[in-house]
Amino acid sequence: MNHVSMFMDADHQYLVRLLDEVIAEKIDSQRAKNIFAIFSIHLEKHILLEDQILFPRFDEYIGLKKGMGPSVIAKRDHENILKLLDQVKQAFENYNLQKIHYAGHHLYRALTKHHEREGQIQYPLSNKFIPEDEWKSILFTIYGVKIYSILPTLQ
Ligand SMILES: [Fe+2]
Ligand SMILES: [Fe+2]
Repeated sequence: MNHVSMFMDADHQYLVRLLDEVIAEKIDSQRAKNIFAIFSIHLEKHILLEDQILFPRFDEYIGLKKGMGPSVIAKRDHENILKLLDQVKQAFENYNLQKIHYAGHHLYRALTKHHEREGQIQYPLSNKFIPEDEWKSILFTIYGVKIYSILPTLQ
């Protein structure tokens, strides 16, 4: 049973691939903006899923008090990631190409590093305490589509 980690890892790969495309697009800025919009919405949902559902359940499972453990570090990472996301958004609004790439690269690094941490502890352990059926309904609640069924396309 690796339904949670499989989805979350694939979701990170999907996010990184989108961001990679945004950074790599140096000619068609409208295309970059459109991909960034998809990335941005998806990233916010991914973080919502973790902060509101996955990590509180993780803390409960391992018996952690509020304000302790890996979820605190993850939350701090999320705040930093959302700040960088906002910087890229602003750069697109101001049509500042240099800033888009600069902040975009920072965001890319922050997201990759963050995934390394989550992939070591929270994701593998979450497979144990969230049954597969419940997981599917959680994903439906957050993403609003049967995203689990299209998982192979996320890889
Ligand atoms: Fe996260
Ligand atoms: Fe994550």
